[in-house]
Amino acid sequence: MPQKVIIDTDPGIDDSLAIMLALSMPEEIEVAGITIAAGNAPVEMGYGNALKVLKFMDRLDVPVFMGADRPLKRDFVNALDTHGADGLGESFLPEVSEEEYERQEMNAVQFMQETLQREAVSVIALGPLTNLAMLIEKDPCAFGSIREIVSMGGSFRSHGNCSPVAEYNYWCDPDAAAIVYREMDRIGKMIHMVGLDVTRRIVLTPDLLDYMKRLDPRTGDFTQKITKFYFDFHWEWEHLIGCVINDPLAVAYFARRDLCRGFESYVQIETQGISIGQTVVDSMHFYRHTPNAVVLTEVDTMRFFRTFFTCLLQMEEEPDLLADLCR
Ligand code: BDR
Ligand code: CA
Repeated sequence: MPQKVIIDTDPGIDDSLAIMLALSMPEEIEVAGITIAAGNAPVEMGYGNALKVLKFMDRLDVPVFMGADRPLKRDFVNALDTHGADGLGESFLPEVSEEEYERQEMNAVQFMQETLQREAVSVIALGPLTNLAMLIEKDPCAFGSIREIVSMGGSFRSHGNCSPVAEYNYWCDPDAAAIVYREMDRIGKMIHMVGLDVTRRIVLTPDLLDYMKRLDPRTGDFTQKITKFYFDFHWEWEHLIGCVINDPLAVAYFARRDLCRGFESYVQIETQGISIGQTVVDSMHFYRHTPNAVVLTEVDTMRFFRTFFTCLLQMEEEPDLLADLCR
């Protein structure tokens, strides 16, 4: 039986690949809806991008809900420098028209609340945690009935990508992240923190992209179109040939837990000062506090790409070349 999930996201190049992956794992994941928050792109743009991806996947039946248009307290800082002027790598794909997709009347938080009052679904969070924090404020009981939360965000030993210590999703809305981690602590549950320690190991290289295009030209070309800008960004900033695709790892890990390993810990989010957005991971148990997070530190990169290729490209066989290309 597939597990029902809400994907809370800010598409975003790697978010788009993550949505595509989730929709390609129907035996493991059933996407009940996609909720959008301001993050990589302003919320309207992220909403439009989610629709573009759904259209490419021929899945405009999946409902998309507009969420928070800014962080709870901080000024909004988007990441269009990373994701391109259209948030989708300057692919400038045509907008999905109102005839093709009828807008939902509910907003993201209402949809989450309504769904959770009915059934216990999980949430895969790929952007700032603003929508989830708003749900906690509105209906903690509904939040408490979320089956599991897997969140791409934070870092333990890795350096940040917005400051020496902070990762974008939590840096963008540290107050929301702090509320979510605090609430997990209060209700005695654990959030799965898929942070930069593991996602930095997921690099889509030109070779892997080329391989994708040969195996499935349509999906490969689409991926190339939306990642070209991202490749250039990584070269400019990190002298890395390829691009780190953070968000698809959260999806793959949700479905296949043995892809990553880590440890349970108490985690707090810094909301002020030079460390704003940092995940303070009490790995040495200084506070003697029960864990509220599973902090992932190891990933089997090769197996991730095997999952990514076999599901997204719908391959029957495991690709032989992958072991070489992932080195
Ligand atoms: C996260 O921030 C965004 O740029 C990506 O979509 C990912 O969710 C990585 O820090
Ligand atoms: Ca994201």
